[in-house]
Amino acid sequence: MKDIVILGTGSAAPDNVVTNFDLEKIMDTSDEWIVQRTGIKSRHIVRPGEKFSDFAVPAALQALAAAGVEAAELDLIICGTMTPDHLMPAGACSVQALLGATKATGMDVCAACSGFIYGLSIAEKYLKCDPEMHILVIGGEIVSHHLDWEDRTTAVLFGDAVGAAVVGCRENYGSKLKAVATGSDGNLGRLLYIEGLGSATPVTKDFNIDDNYIKMQGREIFKHAIRNMVDVSNQALEKAGYTVDQVTKIIPHQANMRIIEMLAKQFKKPMDKVFVNIDRYGNSSAGTIPVALNEAVRSNFLVPGDVVLMTVFGGGLTWAAAVLEW
Ligand code: UT7
Repeated sequence: MKDIVILGTGSAAPDNVVTNFDLEKIMDTSDEWIVQRTGIKSRHIVRPGEKFSDFAVPAALQALAAAGVEAAELDLIICGTMTPDHLMPAGACSVQALLGATKATGMDVCAACSGFIYGLSIAEKYLKCDPEMHILVIGGEIVSHHLDWEDRTTAVLFGDAVGAAVVGCRENYGSKLKAVATGSDGNLGRLLYIEGLGSATPVTKDFNIDDNYIKMQGREIFKHAIRNMVDVSNQALEKAGYTVDQVTKIIPHQANMRIIEMLAKQFKKPMDKVFVNIDRYGNSSAGTIPVALNEAVRSNFLVPGDVVLMTVFGGGLTWAAAVLEW
């Protein structure tokens, strides 16, 4: 009996690193406030001209190499992103062309921070229908293009990064994808949103640049994030046939260190069982989970036998969780 498995992972981020001290010079903020309230010390921010595929392609190549799968063998590419290179074609099609993945179908999933696990959920369903498929799931964002550098309540929080995983079916293999659970609530969409660039607020010569920027009611989002990540994690664990007690590692969305610590407390796990890289990346939206997964794999944070819980929350509102058996 073949299992659905993560065959390989990869990630990439701009080499331009912006520290809290850099931000102190351009807005009314401090390293002390940012570290205490969020846990972020620095983030990667694109230079002018850099775009999504510049990072999605190296992340994908790293994941393909780790998987031992050729780009030409890919059947499907799913990009969880709201910042592809262009509104059309889809980010997955841009990546397909650059990889030479001629056999693949490409599609994007627009679920903000939850894009990667939503992508895994779609991949899981495809693989249940056709176990011969090889699927590349990418998650990431050039979120800095939507930051107002005069708004300290959002600008200090986010960064640019992209991660990827190749998923397929294998027998007697580790890194099994045991279950995925997802959810959303569009009624709360205005708690975290970008007004413009959609059909409701198209770009005209009178376009208000403020409509290009992320707006967030941070405190409200904070509460919803914890509640929904706990609920959806429990749903995914139930589907996978595990209890919270059996979870040995957690890879949480990297939006706020205080949220990560509260999740660890809820799940009764010590912080050394929880993967954290928010200090170096900030919140890269759909990038947080696949980048953290890749770093957790490559640093041997994950070891064979681990029961891994990944959970995420974002604009939409959207939320998701996945359970892996490493
Ligand atoms: O990925 C999607 C999911 N996103 C999240 O989960 C984010 C959830 N929310 C949060 O992480 C937190 O709510 C924030 C980090 C966004 C904000 O932290 P907070 O502790 O909720 O702060 P606050 O918004 O209540 O603001 C407290 C004070 C305010 O000053 P006053 O009104 O008390 O004088 C803010 O103006 O902190 C001030 N403030 C800042 N001060 C220095 C807000 N941002 C900054 C800043 N630097 N960057």
